[in-house]
Amino acid sequence: MSEDIHVAVIPVAGLGTRLLPATKSQPKEMLPVGRKPVVQYVVEEMEKNGIKQILFVTGRDKTSIENHFDFDHELVRTLRENGKEELLSELEYERMRLQFFFTRQRRPKGLGDAILCAQHFTGDRPFVVALGDSVLGMHGSATVVSRMVETYRRNAPCVVIALREVSLEKVSRYGIVEPASEGPISLIRNLVEKPSPEAAPSRLAITARYILPAAIHDAIERIQPDRHGEIQLTDAIQLLLKEGMPVYGVRLGPEEKRYDVGNFQSYFEAFLEFAWNDPQLSGEVKRMIQELLREDR
Ligand code: UTP
Repeated sequence: MSEDIHVAVIPVAGLGTRLLPATKSQPKEMLPVGRKPVVQYVVEEMEKNGIKQILFVTGRDKTSIENHFDFDHELVRTLRENGKEELLSELEYERMRLQFFFTRQRRPKGLGDAILCAQHFTGDRPFVVALGDSVLGMHGSATVVSRMVETYRRNAPCVVIALREVSLEKVSRYGIVEPASEGPISLIRNLVEKPSPEAAPSRLAITARYILPAAIHDAIERIQPDRHGEIQLTDAIQLLLKEGMPVYGVRLGPEEKRYDVGNFQSYFEAFLEFAWNDPQLSGEVKRMIQELLREDR
């Protein structure tokens, strides 16, 4: 069975409470990392990996995401009238060959629930899920989704998840898998949500990109919320796995580092690294950081 995957669901309905007050009245997915908002890198990564249609699962106070991907004719006119044509290239992303769709998750009840909101759109089709607060690779350059699509095509129907190695102290923050073999692509035997270091079956963490078959919706409807009342996508994948659906893990390559914007430490790290690698200001940023380090001695 061979199936092409052209649809990505980007959930952006979370409250971003770990980033308050920055996220009080703006989505965390719109926070800039370097020159662009996080979600723009995610969308550009999807386009580079062959996606044609994107469904955002949004929530309250998220309209700036819709505006960001829309044409702004007035801004273009103003830039022209003011002789700032050179800035028009910054809006090139508006011309990406993508169709955008939007739906609302009325209450942020977890990632599983957000995916369920996409059901009428994705229907019988398999689809990519890309978390709207995680950039993969410097400036969103990762191609892991293409490798995941290829893995799906060869084994459909199945679940495919992106994986990366984390340190043992950090396993309790993530969904951790038990792979059946070594190597860049492996079947997964088991998934454990946020295990203790002692209980972790490996150090391979589920990382912000998934390919899901249509059967995921029914699985989400059959699982119970966790103790915080959230419906976890990992639990629904676990259920499919138990019922015999193959689950594959595809590892991120060395150039496909994950930049997560979920908390201030990881946000600061991401911003610093993107500024350090900025195509125009890299030299200035490096000089400034060296100066700060000298002053700190
Ligand atoms: P997180 O769990 O990291 O986001 O979800 P959060 O709930 O906003 O974070 P905190 O704990 O309050 O700080 C990862 C991605 O899934 C989306 C988020 O918007 C984010 O892009 N998400 C999460 C939803 O769309 N709906 C939800 O119910 C939860």
